[in-house]
Amino acid sequence: MPLVNMKQMLEHAHRNGYAVGAFDLVSLDFLEGIITAAERCQAPVILSLAESHFDYFDFDLAMPAVVAAAERADVPVAIHLDHGHSLESAVHGINRGCNGVMVDASHLAFGENVAVTREVVEMARGCGVPVEGELGYVPGVEGEDAERHPGEIAYTSVEDARTFVQETGVDFLAVSIGTVHGRMQGEPRLDIARLQAIDEALGIPLVIHGGTGLSDQQFRRLIERGVSKINYYTALADAAGNRIAGNLGSDARGYTSLVKGVREAIADEVERCIRLWGGHGRAGEVLEQSEPWLPVEHLILYNVKGLDEAGVEAMMREGRRVLSGIPGVLAVDTGRAVKADAGYRYCWRIRFCHPAVIDSYREHPDHVRFADGLFRPVAGERISIDYQLFGDRA
Ligand code: 13P
Repeated sequence: MPLVNMKQMLEHAHRNGYAVGAFDLVSLDFLEGIITAAERCQAPVILSLAESHFDYFDFDLAMPAVVAAAERADVPVAIHLDHGHSLESAVHGINRGCNGVMVDASHLAFGENVAVTREVVEMARGCGVPVEGELGYVPGVEGEDAERHPGEIAYTSVEDARTFVQETGVDFLAVSIGTVHGRMQGEPRLDIARLQAIDEALGIPLVIHGGTGLSDQQFRRLIERGVSKINYYTALADAAGNRIAGNLGSDARGYTSLVKGVREAIADEVERCIRLWGGHGRAGEVLEQSEPWLPVEHLILYNVKGLDEAGVEAMMREGRRVLSGIPGVLAVDTGRAVKADAGYRYCWRIRFCHPAVIDSYREHPDHVRFADGLFRPVAGERISIDYQLFGDRA
């Protein structure tokens, strides 16, 4: 089960002078291509899902496949929500299986960015999930021509970065030092001295957005100056698009003929990046030095007094609705004993993403309201135990 804690993964990269690729995925071809490359290189990898791409695929449908791919991989994997739009997006991402989140408030004024990011950090701490913040503005849109969305680069200042990290408590900081999202003409000009000063001031893993279009030499210099996570998408989309265009040229018709080779094209580009960024051969050390990311089953077995079956079902329905929205809750299941003479007739099976959720869930106002108002008054006879799951799924 090599889903691992992303904070420990990136701290390993930071200590050892390499960067982990956070590759945005928009389809199963991307997912398989990224994992194939990481396994080929025996490298840690981040599967990244950008909210701006949710028009192209159904996030809720994709996530079970992303989680399954991560659990099946033989290299350490983290799953990251990239450029989330809001606190609600971050909660939704975590509850679908992301174990790292970023809410991008970099377009807001400094104080507002701090306030939004701090709220995300407070919520995510209760889920054991690390948070990336962004300060300064990296313009452009992933997958498009950068020139069409030029915006204005707002460079990150060292002083603001220090204050931002102190006031928000983010685990990683995305900095703006000259990169742009999307397809660029020519190399961007990077302010490496600024990056170095930010690295010296903060000492936490730094993140670069807009990886596409940088030269090999530029990547090396970024990593030397504290960059531990590189976000990368447009070049993968272009590798896929070029392969499809080539297939069209060979008279291929039909979906499967057109997308033939896309997975391999993506894997080749991901492999090139991993080797260039120094992550190859690091999988074993990262697995040894990172906590495995293991969910917790919160089990409650209970009997009910004072409600008929319809009343019990209504109470369970309300519980599934309310409890599934609490941060860190991956699933809420309700059950009835198969045998009528079982010691406990009903159960809740609530899956938390991390042991930290045991406390934050208990204290969450929605849980307190449901438990005190609807559940405990009728379920005096109950036992409750939290189990951390381990072992490969059979
Ligand atoms: P590129 O599309 O320019 O590689 O940037 C990706 C990115 O920064 C995603 O957050």
